[in-house]
Amino acid sequence: MHFSRSFVGLVSLLFTKALAAPSDLRSRDLTSFVAAERAIALQGALNNIGPNGSEVPGAGSGFVVASPSKVNPDYFYTWTRDSALTLKMLIDEFIFGNTALLPTIWDYIHAQATLQTVSNPSGTFLPEGLGLGEPKFQVDGTRFNGAWGRPQRDGPALRAIALMTFSNWLLNNGQKSTAKTIIWPIISNDLSYVGQYWNQTGFDLWEETLGSSFFTIQNQHRSLVEGAQLAHDLGVTCTGCDQAPEVLCFLQSFWNGEWIVANINVDNGRTGVDGNSILGSIAVFDIDAYCDSPTIQPCNSQALANFKVLIDTFRATYEINDGIPEGQGVAVGRYPEDVYQGGNPWYLITTAAAEFLYDAVAQWEARHNLIVDETSLAFFKDIYPAVTVRQYNSGNANSPFFQIMDAVTAYADSFVAIAEKYIPANGSLAEQFNRDTGVPLSAYDLTWSYAAFVTMSQRRAGQYPASWGTRNAAAPPATCAGTSTQGVYAPATAAGAPNVTSTCQVNVVFNVNATTYYGENIYVVGNTSDLGAWQISNSLPLGAGGYTSERPLWSVSAYLNAGESVDYKYVRQEDCNQPYIYETVNRTLTVPACGSAGITTNDAWEGPVGTSGDC
Ligand SMILES: *[C@@H]1O[C@H](CO)[C@@H](O)[C@H](O)[C@H]1NC(C)=O
Ligand SMILES: *[C@@H]1O[C@H](CO)[C@@H](O)[C@H](O)[C@H]1NC(C)=O
Ligand SMILES: *[C@@H]1O[C@H](CO)[C@@H](O)[C@H](O)[C@H]1NC(C)=O
Ligand SMILES: *[C@@H]1O[C@H](CO)[C@@H](O)[C@H](O)[C@H]1NC(C)=O
Ligand SMILES: *[C@@H]1O[C@H](CO)[C@@H](O)[C@H](O)[C@H]1NC(C)=O
Ligand SMILES: *[C@@H]1O[C@H](CO)[C@@H](O)[C@H](O)[C@H]1NC(C)=O
Ligand SMILES: *[C@@H]1O[C@H](CO)[C@@H](O)[C@H](O)[C@H]1NC(C)=O
Repeated sequence: MHFSRSFVGLVSLLFTKALAAPSDLRSRDLTSFVAAERAIALQGALNNIGPNGSEVPGAGSGFVVASPSKVNPDYFYTWTRDSALTLKMLIDEFIFGNTALLPTIWDYIHAQATLQTVSNPSGTFLPEGLGLGEPKFQVDGTRFNGAWGRPQRDGPALRAIALMTFSNWLLNNGQKSTAKTIIWPIISNDLSYVGQYWNQTGFDLWEETLGSSFFTIQNQHRSLVEGAQLAHDLGVTCTGCDQAPEVLCFLQSFWNGEWIVANINVDNGRTGVDGNSILGSIAVFDIDAYCDSPTIQPCNSQALANFKVLIDTFRATYEINDGIPEGQGVAVGRYPEDVYQGGNPWYLITTAAAEFLYDAVAQWEARHNLIVDETSLAFFKDIYPAVTVRQYNSGNANSPFFQIMDAVTAYADSFVAIAEKYIPANGSLAEQFNRDTGVPLSAYDLTWSYAAFVTMSQRRAGQYPASWGTRNAAAPPATCAGTSTQGVYAPATAAGAPNVTSTCQVNVVFNVNATTYYGENIYVVGNTSDLGAWQISNSLPLGAGGYTSERPLWSVSAYLNAGESVDYKYVRQEDCNQPYIYETVNRTLTVPACGSAGITTNDAWEGPVGTSGDC
């Protein structure tokens, strides 16, 4: 009989490692590095959460700021995705024993209950839940009006997953009514959104590609399966959870026979090789899952084949990976065609590669066997050349099961060693590190980088979240269908959400003739929150798609509250850091009554014009 290493422990671990000579010392060094960096990373994440986070003065209670960086890039906002992934990490830490995190978890719950009701450019909360697809907000929880890739449909699923993890803990600790009355109403809105909109396109986790994203669909499926179980346990109804088998059916279509194509229903000229697929599988990791589960777990053959394609791609992409042979960890980025900030490796994806492999080992050990098939063979060949297509059982003394586990674990460690190499001495984690030099760059102290380091450290230490129910998930139907369940949306007032009622909004298209030079932009700002409440940083950007030599048209389509009177004016944004130029006229319009057709303004710029600073 073989025990899982995480529980037995130290003795067998040290024994096995003692036989593996050269990596031994490095491994032990790595263990102390991981322990030290894990503490820095946990604190790094907490430093970016309001109201007490030392790096983010001004952030509201329970709001997770992506990074303290306010310029190049400006990440001083709260993203629903990053926040949920960070809280999932903190909730797991809490469950693993760090009870000091409880107030932060409750702050998040209250903040999200309110945030769900905030009208934003993706839409209003009521009646159709559209506002739940908004990716980012100001750090005080007010709307962000700037141009952005929206909607992003992974946010509600990830938030539901984080909140369900905590709700299950409450259930198991005699606090069922708290889970049911306070937290479930938030989760229910998010699951409604998933069930209603999973089959519509949205922007991916990198906020660039409008289509269907593997990461999004995988998390959406998990949220619905977990939601159905929690609803059952709480004695409530989950609207939308019936969509789970169709979402799982759709998930199967990302595999192209060789790798997982990260975004489909899109034609962006990319191969589809993307860290998206690794982040997806680790987000739905279930220690109880079977490796042939269609949820595509880390130990799944398609996921392993995809891992090899992805890692070999980055091996050949970055100069800092030059000469590192197959089967050894490299620096990993988002996708090979990436140009953002120069297109570099990311800390959170490099550690995710390690986490993925620790997850897979944990699953094989828990199942007591490993089945190598034609799909996964090439992955194993790199790290255990004698491997063949067959089943390896941990209980069979003649089976090299544990040698293969050691090889995969050493492979995982080699990704952590790459991260270690490029993490500065003080342990701070930026978003990226330079592909040629390894120097940290882009946003500093990125919350998601810290959260990802901690989750990797949990898996390396044998800490696994409880199963989310993969074994009970209904199989996908034989033929997929694009379906939807009408959601039910209500403010989670018991958790502190304002008791908003359905606001009727009407389309207003702002059209203004404004001759501009190349590099100059036009915004509209006004006295309602939909128009930025006179704050230029939150004004609506107009587009110049219809600008011609006959008509210098700038335009934006907005939704404003029916019947309201609005003061507004246009603003010119100058190049070369010159000041904004405001119109000298005060404009007013009255939005038509509820149910009316929309209106279009016919304005012409009134006021001084700008000139390029020619910088
Ligand atoms: C933030 O600081 C205040 C004042 O010290 C304290 O009462 C509160 O519990 C802290 N919040 C969190 C989440 O630690
Ligand atoms: C909707 O679902 C169908 C069936 O799985 C799939 O073919 C289609 O691509 C999906 N479309 C979107 C936008 O999710
Ligand atoms: C940590 O080190 C990095 C890289 O040297 C540096 O940019 C950063 O400011 C340091 N952070 C702190 C808190 O000292
Ligand atoms: C919220 O408002 C609705 C109608 O305006 C009312 O029926 C309901 O009781 C209110 N709920 C709370 C918790 O105040
Ligand atoms: C905006 O201005 C209009 C017209 O002056 C006024 O009627 C309205 O109450 C103002 N709205 C807000 C939110 O102040
Ligand atoms: C516009 O309104 C501001 C105050 O809101 C006022 O000071 C200014 O004189 C007005 N401009 C015109 C042209 O009416
Ligand atoms: C804007 O330009 C168009 C095309 O030249 C013209 O028809 C329209 O009257 C202009 N609007 C204003 C307010 O000047």
